[in-house]
Amino acid sequence: MDSLTLRRPDDWHLHLRDAAMLDAVLPPTAAVFGRAVVMPNLKPPVTTTEQAAAYRERILASLPEGSRFTPLMTAYLTDRTDPDDLAAGHAAGVLTAVKLYPAGATTNSDAGVTSLTRLERVLERLADIGMPLLVHGEVTDHDVDIFDREARFLDEVLEPIVAKFPTLRVVVEHATTAEAVQFVRAHGERVGCTITPQHLLANRNDLLVGGIRPHFYCLPVLKRRKHQVALLEAATSGEAGFFLGTDSAPHPKHAKESDCGCAGCYSAPAALPLYAEAFERAGALEHLETFASLNGPAFYGLPVNEDTVTLVRKSWEVPESVAVDGPASEIVPFWAGQSLRWRVA
Ligand code: DOR
Ligand code: ZN
Repeated sequence: MDSLTLRRPDDWHLHLRDAAMLDAVLPPTAAVFGRAVVMPNLKPPVTTTEQAAAYRERILASLPEGSRFTPLMTAYLTDRTDPDDLAAGHAAGVLTAVKLYPAGATTNSDAGVTSLTRLERVLERLADIGMPLLVHGEVTDHDVDIFDREARFLDEVLEPIVAKFPTLRVVVEHATTAEAVQFVRAHGERVGCTITPQHLLANRNDLLVGGIRPHFYCLPVLKRRKHQVALLEAATSGEAGFFLGTDSAPHPKHAKESDCGCAGCYSAPAALPLYAEAFERAGALEHLETFASLNGPAFYGLPVNEDTVTLVRKSWEVPESVAVDGPASEIVPFWAGQSLRWRVA
């Protein structure tokens, strides 16, 4: 097989940032994906319908001429989120979902939720109106080991929430463990998860053996090989709960290659070929379309994209660096300098 045509995929978890960074990172996503769920962890975060509408306008203004890409907006939950504002934003078609960052869990999460008990009214409303709750699923307790933080969150925080709100729809974002795969399977169609290309192609050895590789560092951090295997098995299974979300998260090169490097892999320039590489290595290319283009729309209750994209088998190398105007100056993509077997035609 030398070419593979699929329904145009969507990216169900994406960081686009703002200003010059937005202008630099939006084109590669808009060239391939029909829609993307845009994360709200700007500085300051996007917490209201009004702010999400304004951010959507900035994204649309930054799109290349003629692009038909649609940003799907999210609001960042805080201890003070107003359920009426979320419901109004959802009804007006401005907000697709809300994002829960436990305070301190990751990049720009300081304004996140400090206690889930403060969120009861919000969760009740989300369950009522069918608005999905997207979670960064990691506990933040000082003494919980970083490699255990996702499994502990699912067990101690998310399980009680889904039990208490039986109609709440939840996406476990950037799943990284066998426990997350198990959690999604255990809750049927109301719980889904996104899986990133880095968690399918790499494990913590790739991050740490033979030298520390900052461009493989993201949160939740890469886990053991057995978790990579569980994620590959889930993504390539065709099961409805597993769908594409790159978590492409650009940071300036200097901020990642630093004595305290930022978390985030900028995968957008090679996103679909990275997934194709992982699926081909797993001998499951025939399931790529289900994962990339069908399962996400079904979960979100949206139509599948009408048009298609074609991948061709043509080896290429991911660029070493991407230029950005202004102080960021350059970003190093995930998989920089390494080759991939498939490219977008
Ligand atoms: O690695 C990550 N980077 N994980 C996140 O959850 C946030 C993201 C970012 O915004 O840079
Ligand atoms: Zn993210």
